[in-house]
Amino acid sequence: MWAPLIASIYACVVHASPPPIDRQAIVGRYNPTRNASSQTTPMQIGSGNFAFGADITGLQTFQPWAIMSTWGWKNDSFPPGKTLADVYDYTGISLDNHGRLVEYMFNGEATMQTWMISNPNRVNLGAVGLVFFSDSGAVLNVTESDLTSVEQELDLWTGILTSKFMFDGVPIQVETISAQSVDSIGITISSPLLSIGRLGVFVDFPWNDGSKKFSDPFVGFWQNASIHTTTLDTSKQGNIDAEIAHTLVNNTFITSISGDPFTIARDSPDAHRYTLRPAAKSSSTFALSTTWGLSAPKSVLSPAAISLSSSKTWEQYWTSSGFVDVFTGSTDPRADELQRRIILSRYLMRANEAGDFPPQESGLVNDGWYGKFHLEMFFWHCQHWALWNNWDLLFRSSTIYDRFLATSIARAQVQQGWPTGARWGKMSDPSGRSAPGQINELLIWQQPHPLVFANYEYRAFPTTATLQKWAPVVRNTADWMATFAWFNATTGFYDLGPPMYQVAEDNIFNNTYNPSFELAYWRLGLGIAEEWMERLGEEVPSNWTIVKDGLAKLPVNNGTYKVFEDVNDDFWTDPTYINDHPALAGLHGWLPPTEGLDLETARLTTEKVWASWNVSNVWGWDFPLLAMSAARIGEQEKALEWLLHPLFEFDDVGMPVGGVRVPTPYFPGSGGLLYAIAMMANGWDGSNGTGPGFPAEGWNVRAEGLSKAM
Ligand SMILES: *[C@@H]1O[C@H](CO)[C@@H](O)[C@H](O)[C@H]1NC(C)=O
Ligand SMILES: *[C@@H]1O[C@H](CO)[C@@H](O)[C@H](O)[C@H]1NC(C)=O
Ligand SMILES: *[C@@H]1O[C@H](CO)[C@@H](O)[C@H](O)[C@H]1NC(C)=O
Ligand SMILES: *[C@@H]1O[C@H](CO)[C@@H](O)[C@H](O)[C@H]1NC(C)=O
Ligand SMILES: *[C@@H]1O[C@H](CO)[C@@H](O)[C@H](O)[C@H]1NC(C)=O
Ligand SMILES: *[C@@H]1O[C@H](CO)[C@@H](O)[C@H](O)[C@H]1NC(C)=O
Ligand SMILES: *[C@@H]1O[C@H](CO)[C@@H](O)[C@H](O)[C@H]1NC(C)=O
Ligand SMILES: *[C@@H]1O[C@H](CO)[C@@H](O)[C@H](O)[C@H]1NC(C)=O
Ligand SMILES: *[C@@H]1O[C@H](CO)[C@@H](O)[C@H](O)[C@H]1NC(C)=O
Ligand SMILES: *[C@@H]1O[C@H](CO)[C@@H](O)[C@H](O)[C@H]1NC(C)=O
Ligand SMILES: *[C@@H]1O[C@H](CO)[C@@H](O)[C@H](O)[C@H]1NC(C)=O
Repeated sequence: MWAPLIASIYACVVHASPPPIDRQAIVGRYNPTRNASSQTTPMQIGSGNFAFGADITGLQTFQPWAIMSTWGWKNDSFPPGKTLADVYDYTGISLDNHGRLVEYMFNGEATMQTWMISNPNRVNLGAVGLVFFSDSGAVLNVTESDLTSVEQELDLWTGILTSKFMFDGVPIQVETISAQSVDSIGITISSPLLSIGRLGVFVDFPWNDGSKKFSDPFVGFWQNASIHTTTLDTSKQGNIDAEIAHTLVNNTFITSISGDPFTIARDSPDAHRYTLRPAAKSSSTFALSTTWGLSAPKSVLSPAAISLSSSKTWEQYWTSSGFVDVFTGSTDPRADELQRRIILSRYLMRANEAGDFPPQESGLVNDGWYGKFHLEMFFWHCQHWALWNNWDLLFRSSTIYDRFLATSIARAQVQQGWPTGARWGKMSDPSGRSAPGQINELLIWQQPHPLVFANYEYRAFPTTATLQKWAPVVRNTADWMATFAWFNATTGFYDLGPPMYQVAEDNIFNNTYNPSFELAYWRLGLGIAEEWMERLGEEVPSNWTIVKDGLAKLPVNNGTYKVFEDVNDDFWTDPTYINDHPALAGLHGWLPPTEGLDLETARLTTEKVWASWNVSNVWGWDFPLLAMSAARIGEQEKALEWLLHPLFEFDDVGMPVGGVRVPTPYFPGSGGLLYAIAMMANGWDGSNGTGPGFPAEGWNVRAEGLSKAM
């Protein structure tokens, strides 16, 4: 009777779990610090739906880093003679799809096409900065080089940015904090200069338009005052002291200001810059709350309430979801840098990529592709939330698959005439419209993504509610996948394309067919869809199974897979095919093994990709993709080399550097890093133990609260 009890006590002692990771110590180790503004990236605070980029003063005093959101969009005026009706009347080009003409939205009327690509565009809502006055009250022209003793630190644990410096030998401290449930920034300035009337704050509003595809590092134009308007209202009710309405064409944005008593005046009638001066000259602190939105709030949070909102939310984020510690106890000298990337990526994803829509490539830092987001990139931006168990954050954006279902059904069935299903768009805006364009219309690898999102959600919440919630999306997604596959009577297999673009957008769309990655992804997706219906107790549509089982085999030549079936066998040395995303290495790595995949052929293919691809031209999420391809085949050292590759850079504040192909920051790199880290640290279906993606020597890996990758 005693023996089992003693044995179980003993077992309990022997297998006692290690003490929890000291998360606060690890996070605090990587607080970013600066003593000068960066020319390429801001320090940033934000909530995932709204973010504020700061220069060395904690504001936008010297550099107009953006204040950006998921909701702040604007339409430019229509081209001369055009109206809203022309958006709906736009027609593209008809392409042959195996004997049937299908309309794709490109090569249509040029002026409307340009407008539809560049609109709506995401706006920089404004700028807030310090104003310095002389003893006699004149505005001084101060530049960053006039500041001394400069120190800036972002406390990751609380989201509080503290900037300290001296001007004219007098200390100034600025604390900048983002609220988490509303779009407000709290600003607390402390300085003896306040009590002698030498310090104030400006608020300024730029013109924004879709004239540039990329607006980096800064967004908006500050010289075009006459083509937009601002109006100041200081007679608001509640705790709002001043409200500024900013109108560009037909879109209006409201900035509400509250806080310690101040006076506010417009600098000049032909500018949109307003200067605030503390009313109480006796105080050496001045606290403000600025709130940004599409409509006027009744009241706003105080700076103290914003501070509480920030520290509570961030602390909860760090303590209650997944955490990985590869630093403590590791002897490999690379562990510190990898841990830094993990922590700063976790911070920046939460600030930039936890919004109500999929994020744009540059998050809320600056604009690329006019501020739009790309549905094929949604996996890299946001699927890591599932593995790190940040479901509350993922649920904000993953509902786009419901929200965009109607427009995607219309794209498939009305625009393109397919008998059934929903075809997911690519370069999108919150209305669900996908921008015209050859690549935008012909890429297909975004199509299975919702099935993977759904699958991860079911793994975490295996309930009927989850099954029912996703059922319409699953059904329409798979229906289109089945109907797009074309039965080739010559071979007896179902082919993908033409026309289509593969992941590496380097093929000729109108003759390419059967890209390997897409074939494998189609199989995976249709398999998930079949299982979904079985779990729901519904009949699996026979076409899904027929297509899944009948899809063309992965094209292979001399022991390795090919990028697509009709590519030359020597594509491995053809610059056309080795300079873009190395998706071939994703057949076993990014993807779990799919039906019919030969693991040995996949391994040889992966190794050949590593040896053949032009690495100096790959970028962003390609590195995590390559790392996962190494981890799955037990090449753990190689996995780390990919993750820490010199061309996969993260700057001093953790912003992923764009490199040769794209502007900085390019956040799919950060999301991809976190997905790969979760997989390498916590494993994937079929892996054993902790840290299966890390070398046994030199690394001590601990993972808490993560879920396994597929
Ligand atoms: C600023 O930081 C850099 C890098 O940490 C350091 O080399 C430099 O000495 C610092 N400058 C000042 C004025 O503190
Ligand atoms: C821009 O115009 C489109 C119609 O083309 C409309 O659906 C969308 O709501 C508008 N967006 C904004 C921000 O006004
Ligand atoms: C702005 O509003 C005017 C008046 O309603 C309308 O004629 C015009 O088409 C609108 N412009 C855009 C870009 O929505
Ligand atoms: C402010 O000073 C800088 C540096 O001395 C100078 O380049 C700039 O033109 C000045 N701006 C104004 C508005 O005087
Ligand atoms: C805005 O100002 C910039 C810089 O002066 C100029 O290049 C641009 O054409 C202006 N845009 C509009 C729409 O007036
Ligand atoms: C059918 O498959 C054969 C063999 O792969 C290929 O040569 C042919 O182009 C395919 N037919 C069409 C119309 O795609
Ligand atoms: C493919 O598209 C190009 C460019 O639109 C066109 O010139 C060519 O004729 C097309 N080829 C086929 C086989 O449709
Ligand atoms: C199944 O495929 C057949 C042949 O392509 C097609 O006629 C039918 O409409 C499809 N049914 C569904 C439900 O997709
Ligand atoms: C086939 O692959 C082997 C290496 O696996 C290589 O030595 C040989 O040259 C290849 N043959 C052709 C025809 O490419
Ligand atoms: C590899 O990429 C670089 C750009 O990073 C480019 O200059 C070079 O031509 C490419 N080499 C090949 C063989 O494609
Ligand atoms: C994991 O452990 C199981 C049971 O011991 C074993 O069958 C399997 O091969 C292991 N998997 C790996 C990837 O080592």
